[in-house]
Amino acid sequence: MTLCYRTAQAPTGERSKVDLFSEIEEPEREELKALRKELEEQNYKYYVLNAPTMSDREFDEKMHRLQELEAQFPDMFDPKSPTQHVGSDLAVTGYGLRVTGKGFEQVKHRYPMLSLANSYSREEIEDWVRKLPANAEIVCELKYDGLSISLWYEHGVLVKALTRGDGQQGDNVIDNIKTIPSIPWRIERNDIPDSFEMRGEVLLPWERFEALNKEREEQEEPLFANPRNAASGTLKLQDPREVARRGLDAYLYYMLGENLPGKTHFERLDTARQWGFPVSDAIKVCHSVDEVMAYIAYWDTERKTLPVATDGIVLKVNDLAQQEELGFTAKTPRWAIAYKFPAEKQLTLLREITYQVGRTGVVTPVANLEPVQLSGTIVQRATLHNEDFIRSLDIRPGDKVWVEKGGEIIPKITGKVQSDEVQSTKDFSFPDVCPECGAKLVRVEGEAAWRCPNEAGCPPQIKGKIEHFVSRKAMDIEGLGEETIDLFYQKGLLHNIADIYSLRLEDIAAQERLGEKSAQNLLDGIEASKQVPWSRVLFALGIRMVGETTAKKIARRFNSIDTLQWATAEQLCAIEDVGPQIAENIVRYFEDIRNLEILARLRQAGLQMEGEPEPEPTSDKLAGLSIVISGTFAHHSRDEYKALIEQHGGKNVGSVSKKTSFILAGDNMGPEKRKKAEDLGIKIVTEDEFLDLIKN
Ligand code: IVH
Repeated sequence: MTLCYRTAQAPTGERSKVDLFSEIEEPEREELKALRKELEEQNYKYYVLNAPTMSDREFDEKMHRLQELEAQFPDMFDPKSPTQHVGSDLAVTGYGLRVTGKGFEQVKHRYPMLSLANSYSREEIEDWVRKLPANAEIVCELKYDGLSISLWYEHGVLVKALTRGDGQQGDNVIDNIKTIPSIPWRIERNDIPDSFEMRGEVLLPWERFEALNKEREEQEEPLFANPRNAASGTLKLQDPREVARRGLDAYLYYMLGENLPGKTHFERLDTARQWGFPVSDAIKVCHSVDEVMAYIAYWDTERKTLPVATDGIVLKVNDLAQQEELGFTAKTPRWAIAYKFPAEKQLTLLREITYQVGRTGVVTPVANLEPVQLSGTIVQRATLHNEDFIRSLDIRPGDKVWVEKGGEIIPKITGKVQSDEVQSTKDFSFPDVCPECGAKLVRVEGEAAWRCPNEAGCPPQIKGKIEHFVSRKAMDIEGLGEETIDLFYQKGLLHNIADIYSLRLEDIAAQERLGEKSAQNLLDGIEASKQVPWSRVLFALGIRMVGETTAKKIARRFNSIDTLQWATAEQLCAIEDVGPQIAENIVRYFEDIRNLEILARLRQAGLQMEGEPEPEPTSDKLAGLSIVISGTFAHHSRDEYKALIEQHGGKNVGSVSKKTSFILAGDNMGPEKRKKAEDLGIKIVTEDEFLDLIKN
């Protein structure tokens, strides 16, 4: 692996040589093109979707290979190549991948937000240090694994907080950043520059990350792979209250601007700390290769005790004049480099496979491992996902298996030791009956999961449904935690969600650990839940695949349980986000007499079984029209335009097709959309034209 500090090179002009070798070179040129495409896609998955499908290490290796190939073929230079720009969390990336409707102000960075050259090899780090001027001091810092942020202060006031975006411009997420308690909104000092910028990393601490994922698991929402993805998803939320609840944190590591105090990076960070910024204490000025290596060795183990994720060490030349001399490449400063810790991997014994039954009856195999230390935590359990996963790795109890935490991802089994010495003790076969209730398992066609069909009689399903019903985003009944539900279930007080509303003070107070006071609190909580709006009641029912957002959309269209009960699959499918599978689940739910009985009792108890009717269209000016919204607007937000379209009887659709009536286009309309519209001859309507159209 070579480190590349190359800026773009112009073609050399030696065409004849290139021609001569072109046949031999062809596969490498193809490889170069394929790598560009693959890395661009990964950037998109990582920065925009927060769901990478490649490990950091694999990504870095491919990026290095691409750099090598680009150095070999300077005539293939392309400013859009992923080697030439940092990954982007914005709408449009170099090769045209796109996401729309983020709703943040986009602001151009005063100084581009760059990345760092990195290496997994300690030898390469030693080489880098040795090549610096002999007297150079090196600041060593932890490399925090979150996402970078740029904070602008004007006259001591925080005025903007920009994500990296594509390195040139970012999203202003100031309202979300203001939820981080350690970041000052205002600095009351008279010795600070009028204007300066602090850069750093936004993180979700391990503890918060785990709590968030636990909550998501309960809600059957997809889990975040690691704290970085969780922090990124959180920072892009449109609801600062939810951001505040999740508990982001930050460390700042770079001060930028004109006429700043200090001649060294270290002095500046020290000053920033005195001004009240969250600057890490784990920063050290080193004077030799040995000192740097000792720092790396120390933090390689010590970092596992930190409350936040780190994935390496950053080395920076301390002297600012020396930094300036070294300068920048297109993507990275030459005065800094990152050493990345290798992904942690351990071999351990797979003692046993056990099976967990979730609230929807899905049976998940779990690996019970001989405990091993991985990235600061002891790992003894890991999910095996489903039968197909186990078969594809051919793992059985008794095998030695590899457990990995790639880029701090939740532990996963990645393979087993193929050796005659290690003997699997048992054959593997997936159970055919439910480990909890003995019902015969079913495997739904097209799904990888086995499921217990005994919804009303299988204990974890019964308890899981009640836990979901009382959870914060559903009926929000405090005082009915997992343990209490288990206790009440054992004592015969709770068998289904309707039983909650039949609980009596004396029954609750008679239980161990629950006095009269907590019993009364619980009853108050139950009483209060009767005011929870219809859309959340619908979510709380726990109909398979009907998550929080889908429930809201359904409740908007069917504003009472009575109308929903008679909805056909076809009518349900007309709702945004509702596909045939969800529609079928809803129809089936209302076909089950047991559910109807429960619903009758809930209604009797006084729950909100209907909501505000959907606003009637105020005109039919757009009736029958399918309208695509694209770009950014001056007079209204995209959501407001969506509501306006609906109020006038039109339909807002996501993508351009033959059926699109017209495109409501603001500034910066996506180039792909524009091209498609032109190809299909679809009219583009400006914001003012649109407002004219719907005016009385
Ligand atoms: S310095 C011009 N210092 O790592 C260089 N970056 O892989 C500015 N990061 O984009 C970056 N900890 O988001 C710097 N102590 C640290 C860091 C750090 C984490 C992130 C940062 C950067 C990325 C590069």
